[in-house]
Amino acid sequence: MKIILTGHKGQLGRTLLPQLAHHQVVGVDLPDRDITDREELLALARQFRPDLLIHPAAMTNVDGCARDPQAAYRVNGMGTQNVALVAAEVGAEMLYVSTNEVFDGHAEEPYHEWATRQPLNAYGRSKLAGEWYTQNLLDRFYIVRTAWLYAAGGNNFPHKIIQLANKHGSLKVVTDEIGNPTYVEDLAQAIAQLIQTHAYGIYHFVNQGAVSRFEFAQEILRLSGRADIPIEPISSAYFARASTPPLYAPLANSAGAAVGITLRPWQEALAEAIEREGE
Ligand SMILES: NC(=O)c1ccc[n+]([C@@H]2O[C@H](COP(=O)([O-])OP(=O)(O)OC[C@H]3O[C@@H](n4cnc5c(N)ncnc54)[C@H](OP(=O)(O)O)[C@@H]3O)[C@@H](O)[C@H]2O)c1
Repeated sequence: MKIILTGHKGQLGRTLLPQLAHHQVVGVDLPDRDITDREELLALARQFRPDLLIHPAAMTNVDGCARDPQAAYRVNGMGTQNVALVAAEVGAEMLYVSTNEVFDGHAEEPYHEWATRQPLNAYGRSKLAGEWYTQNLLDRFYIVRTAWLYAAGGNNFPHKIIQLANKHGSLKVVTDEIGNPTYVEDLAQAIAQLIQTHAYGIYHFVNQGAVSRFEFAQEILRLSGRADIPIEPISSAYFARASTPPLYAPLANSAGAAVGITLRPWQEALAEAIEREGE
């Protein structure tokens, strides 16, 4: 297939590139190419004639989105509108990467693909706008929602926990934010499988199992040989942030399972990532 991949320099994009090695791929990322420039994107697509646009590029700093909701909407909403319009113009399929933050976190069980979307924060609202444009401008699309992404060696939650443990010798971590830690390698593999299916629709790709940030941190410390570092459980109410996260927002994967795509339990994936981090 011929694929345009937005955000190819980001955490997911970098991991997807080797998974797509048998396809012909052109990347779109800052500063060379900008999804908010529709004409530039259209010119590239008219020349390259992609079969598929995979679109993870986004403004992903959730607190930054809360401070500047207009910028969040411009990139995540209207940038996605551009990608969808270009896909429509050249007759290509599209895969949009979205988030569990389109949900409000007030549920009592993991969110299924068909659950009602009601974001609490600017990041979630801008990503929901991206879902809306994808669904309404195209017939042949995948929306893949994911959560709590991390990569080996990346600047993400496991990395920060290890750094803070090394620096302070103790930690405070919230117990009331629940989600699915998801290893970006597993997500990239699942996306590479999904694009072969042409089974268009909405998917929830996360590693299996829901945990609190506190339990996630405990497992990071245990697996990295720091089980003796004390962690104090705290409530998110004591941890001031610009953006309000949905507190209970695990995702349930029904649609992916129906086409044979499931991700392994989060503990197994984390163990592999921590081992790689130490390499
Ligand atoms: N990370 C998570 O925990 C998480 C959870 C749920 C869903 N997601 C979704 O998963 C996707 C991938 O996340 P990620 O962690 O790989 O994000 P990331 O590491 O921040 O990568 C995003 C990439 O998009 C680029 N980008 C931003 N604005 C752009 C623009 N206007 N034009 C072209 N490229 C632009 C970024 O460049 P700069 O770095 O220069 O800005 C970056 O290279 C996103 O759509 C995100 O919403 C992420």
